[in-house]
Amino acid sequence: MRSRTLRYLALGVLLLSVSAAAVLTLDAFRPLRFRWASKLILANRQRVVDAFAILFHAEGDRTYNNLRWLGTPLQKNPMDLWIYQEMLYEVKPDVVVECGTYKGGTAYYLARLMDLLDKGRVLTVDIEKHPNLPQHPRITYLLGSSTAPEIVGQVRSSIKPGETVLVLLDSDHSMKHVLDELRLYHGLVTAGSYLVVEDTHFNGHPILPKFGPGPMEAVEQFLKENQDFRIDPAREKLMFTFNPRGYLVKRTS
Ligand SMILES: C[S@@+](CC[C@H](N)C(=O)[O-])C[C@H]1O[C@@H](n2cnc3c(N)ncnc32)[C@H](O)[C@@H]1O
Repeated sequence: MRSRTLRYLALGVLLLSVSAAAVLTLDAFRPLRFRWASKLILANRQRVVDAFAILFHAEGDRTYNNLRWLGTPLQKNPMDLWIYQEMLYEVKPDVVVECGTYKGGTAYYLARLMDLLDKGRVLTVDIEKHPNLPQHPRITYLLGSSTAPEIVGQVRSSIKPGETVLVLLDSDHSMKHVLDELRLYHGLVTAGSYLVVEDTHFNGHPILPKFGPGPMEAVEQFLKENQDFRIDPAREKLMFTFNPRGYLVKRTS
């Protein structure tokens, strides 16, 4: 009696395994597999995006660290560059201030877009002078720390009254430095324009969980101190961004 039950059980397990193998491998079940996978992905939207962000960062040497704009290196997520293009078109700033020039790729990208818009210039600051920075009449390079009084003074004096200003923070990513930058530069941003805090994905949001307090934590503190700005989730519409909760728009009223 017991051995017959065991035989039925074994047969049941065998049938189940064969059916599962068929569903998982046969072409006829491909639409079913696709439907299941889609449901699973859509039910775990943020996990999927985070998993891709972690992969993209882990493979940095072939992804964000291996990008060029018209030959000039830049460290960006191409999705964010697309969003910058849209922001530039909508805001049409007279001046973009970039903290953290690196090799000048983003400044050059913005300058070439400004050529198309026939408006705007870029002031870009770095503590280090990288060789072979792209030369363009719309770009001014400033050498020094973004929080040094003389640099902040040079940036302020380069902006004329009434000009529209957009600011990008992408230099030292420690919370202290970013918060200092936020406090020093937010006053330059004009109503309806943006203060973008880059790399808010550090410190486990979702990459580099051991980074320590960084740009995201600086944003949280800044928004407690300042009601003139709000996070604009519309700029995260492409889901995968280096700047989650980092697109801060200045309120118009
Ligand atoms: C992530 S890279 C900038 C990438 C660049 N924005 C791009 O899109 O290609 C950071 C840059 O910030 C610079 N940096 C670090 N500390 C700084 C500071 N206190 N002030 C200004 N720049 C700083 C570094 O030298 C480095 O070139």
